[in-house]
Amino acid sequence: MKFFLDTANLEELRKGASWGIVDGVTTNPTLIAKEGQPIEEQVRRICDIVDGDISAEVVATDAPSMIREGRNLAKIHKNIVVKCPLTRDGIVACSALSKDGHRVNVTLCFSPSQALIAAKAGAYIISPFVGRLDDVSWTGMDLVRNILQIYKNYGFPTQVLAASLRSPLHITEAALAGSHIGTMPFKVLDQLFNHPLTDKGLEQFLKDWGKVFKETPVAG
Ligand code: E4P
Repeated sequence: MKFFLDTANLEELRKGASWGIVDGVTTNPTLIAKEGQPIEEQVRRICDIVDGDISAEVVATDAPSMIREGRNLAKIHKNIVVKCPLTRDGIVACSALSKDGHRVNVTLCFSPSQALIAAKAGAYIISPFVGRLDDVSWTGMDLVRNILQIYKNYGFPTQVLAASLRSPLHITEAALAGSHIGTMPFKVLDQLFNHPLTDKGLEQFLKDWGKVFKETPVAG
């Protein structure tokens, strides 16, 4: 499963990228607004940090404006994936942009039938929002599983990006379901490393080593 960071914060992206396990980035209007910089500038900086798919979302709500905005966003960098919401206009924009050869991430997906529409419109990525469904007492991960099954039934090439992931358990469940991508906040990526037995084990190894060898070997 590819790991995407769901942030527009450059410091978080630099740190995540330095670990060598970040394959791409998702942003949305909320995340861009949080950084307070124009989207073109912020996204360009993000592209300099992470070499992978970088989703940049349109804020227009009618199809012709979304298409124009999407084309402009796509000009920022070759790695840009244009993000469109799963509305009627968003789907029209997805079809048009995809036919132009642009890659589109259809976002705000909350049902399998919505995901089917996005695939038919040529979406490169579909983004089911797991955490937001959990918030309203639905099992969000069931949506990921159902979409994967439907896409498999018909051989759709659209990638499933499990979004709105809020915990390490969400990441594990998305991977078990076979999601192509999981996008997560920096905090969740960081939490994935943690296990008390790793810390305890390392402490013991170093203690045992130190009892016999006084110095740490120098590399090279
Ligand atoms: C995905 O592309 C969205 O930006 C994101 O995952 C939304 O997550 P949230 O529900 O935690 O805001």
